[in-house]
Amino acid sequence: PLVSMRQLLDHAAENGYGIPAFNVNNLEQVTAIMEAAKETGAPVIMQASAGARKYAGEHFLKHLIQAAVEAYPEIPIVMHQDHGQSPAICQGAINLGFSSVMMDGSLHEDGKTPASFDYNVETTKKVVELAHKVGVTVEGELGCLGSLETGQAGEEDGIGAEGVLDHASLLTDPEEAAQFVKATGLDALAIAIGTSHGAYKFTRKPTGDILAISRVKEIHARIPNTHLVMHGSSSVPQELLAEVRQFGGDMKETYGVPVEELQEAIKHGVRKINIDTDIRLAMTGAIRRFFAEQPGKFDPREYLKPAREAAKKLCAQRYREFGCEGQG
Ligand code: G3H
Ligand code: 13P
Ligand code: NA
Ligand code: ZN
Repeated sequence: PLVSMRQLLDHAAENGYGIPAFNVNNLEQVTAIMEAAKETGAPVIMQASAGARKYAGEHFLKHLIQAAVEAYPEIPIVMHQDHGQSPAICQGAINLGFSSVMMDGSLHEDGKTPASFDYNVETTKKVVELAHKVGVTVEGELGCLGSLETGQAGEEDGIGAEGVLDHASLLTDPEEAAQFVKATGLDALAIAIGTSHGAYKFTRKPTGDILAISRVKEIHARIPNTHLVMHGSSSVPQELLAEVRQFGGDMKETYGVPVEELQEAIKHGVRKINIDTDIRLAMTGAIRRFFAEQPGKFDPREYLKPAREAAKKLCAQRYREFGCEGQG
């Protein structure tokens, strides 16, 4: 059934596990996630970004997820709007039937300019008021995603803050987090600890100076009852990069968030872990391999099938690694 995100995150907190929230844009991704959840017995959070809405349209996204709810009635599913940039956008998603929304007031409506604490409180609080009336969960964000190496948001396709961010705004402050949660009444808080969206997060395997898991612990110690969310949490597996390269892809050296660091974060209050890039890499590697090995093929079903298999494998792996097995 379709459930609120609060319900799943509360269960995850009580039982000490984390839930990967996978971004969806098309049928293949939705069915890959559902098959992985079925295989592992995991609960599901699927999220639609502004980019997804632009690509597929909100009606198709809604009905793709709705179709999953019908096809897998035994699995709890959250339909979450990722990075809503205004109360109006969040209201639109709620009207469509989303059971959870993110109001990202860490940036202004352009999705690029960092916003003040007061602006963030005001917009997030507004969304909490309209969402809670109808049982919809709200995720907020405090701090800006971006690299502690370069100060840049690091997103190759233009999502996230523009220009170079100062060190303080790249790390969520525990005291401010406590104030923010109290002032807004939100259900889940996305924090900034040095991760960024996309494949190019770190130029080397991250150590504590560029991936601040210690900050997760400090925030959790200050607000132990708040569900924490990590964005930009793809691990960018080296074997997926190697497959993309082996079959003609052109990707630079790069590193993501190691799974063991995510597991450590889950021990300290992180309940929702956002993953988009790893699915992209898995599907792209499989499709590149298919075309390289079978250049005569042209039926999309034939090359989307291994892409979907690769995505399913990745999702099932994360469900197991984050402790979701049998929790759905
Ligand atoms: O928020 C970041 C996600 O990876 C979604 O990216 O806007 O390209 O769909 P997108
Ligand atoms: P990745 O780019 O690391 O997969 O992060 C996705 C994300 O945070 C979506 O909100
Ligand atoms: Na989100
Ligand atoms: Zn994000």
